[in-house]
Amino acid sequence: MLRLVSIAVLLCAPAMAEESSAKTELINLVHQDCGSCHGLTLKGGLGPDIRPESLSHYDIETLATVVLDGIPETAMPPWRPLLSEADADRIAKYLLQGELK
Ligand code: HEC
Repeated sequence: MLRLVSIAVLLCAPAMAEESSAKTELINLVHQDCGSCHGLTLKGGLGPDIRPESLSHYDIETLATVVLDGIPETAMPPWRPLLSEADADRIAKYLLQGELK
């Protein structure tokens, strides 16, 4: 029985590592790429503060659209060429909730 459990753990470990490195990548992207304008801690720079308390008027869907399409006529670029809709959704959740689930 114990053996079965350790086999299951071995089989699942790579998938879990992949999942968590995808998360880390997305979080890094937010703090580095978005952070280049919004500040490394997202509290604002060239772009405005995008911490959860500043974005409370957004829902996840609208926020994901802002990330994908940018804000026309401003320095906020569209990320559609670089991010999938699923990634944009996860970023929107991360921005609103302050953690990535
Ligand atoms: C080249 C600079 C730049 C980069 C990079 C950038 N932004 Fe922006 N962003 C801006 C600017 C400037 C604004 C304000 C636009 C305006 O005047 O409405 C903005 C606005 C926003 C808003 C709307 C804020 C509000 O209060 O309505 C969100 C959300 C946002 N950015 C998220 C992101 C995310 C997420 C990323 C990374 C995927 C990102 N931005 C990358 C410059 C940038």
